Amino acid sequence: MVSTMKYVGTDSIFATHIAKYSLPELIDEITPIHKDYITDESLWFANQSENCYLLNNHKEIQQKLIDVAHDFLVKRLNYDCNVQMTTSWFTRTRNKDYQKNKHTHHNSWWSGVYYFQDECAIQFDNVLAQFSSIKVLPKDFSLNTTELATYRPKKGELLLFPSQTPHMVIKNENKKQYTHTRSSLAFNFMPKGKIGHYDSHWEF
Ligand SMILES: [Fe+2]
Repeated sequence: MVSTMKYVGTDSIFATHIAKYSLPELIDEITPIHKDYITDESLWFANQSENCYLLNNHKEIQQKLIDVAHDFLVKRLNYDCNVQMTTSWFTRTRNKDYQKNKHTHHNSWWSGVYYFQDECAIQFDNVLAQFSSIKVLPKDFSLNTTELATYRPKKGELLLFPSQTPHMVIKNENKKQYTHTRSSLAFNFMPKGKIGHYDSHWEF
């Protein structure tokens, strides 16, 4: 008997979007600000700048990053809102702290990281994977089945991700161990304006 089976297709619904942008013009704008931080330990609180509203003092840079979030969330994903940046801070990860401190960003909708140094790897974990007790390894790596994804952005690149996505700094690149103190500029976004309907709306 001839099989009538025919593959019709797959809808990869509820995907986690990691948006990638290039914004090299900010390298020269952010590097001098970061240099002031490198030379002053009092500006740090553990692994991040003490000032978590850092870009409120650098409105032009802040606006360029808001424009990126707006481009992705409003123009491309078509969300019906504007976008505002809430917090912004420098991260600092020393060699001993790599591959620790997996975290999410609370009280935030989307988050972003701008890379003004090379060799800054980051790992994202599939937030849904924790809900399944069945773990089957795929034969080959695929974005359709992976439970974690590693990104190695170059200097001048920016990643946007949903704030609930677990992530952490990692140190491996093709068996090369990063040993430098790794810094990046991180920021959170919330919707701006009235969102939602009826008894489930709010004006941010
Ligand atoms: Fe983070």
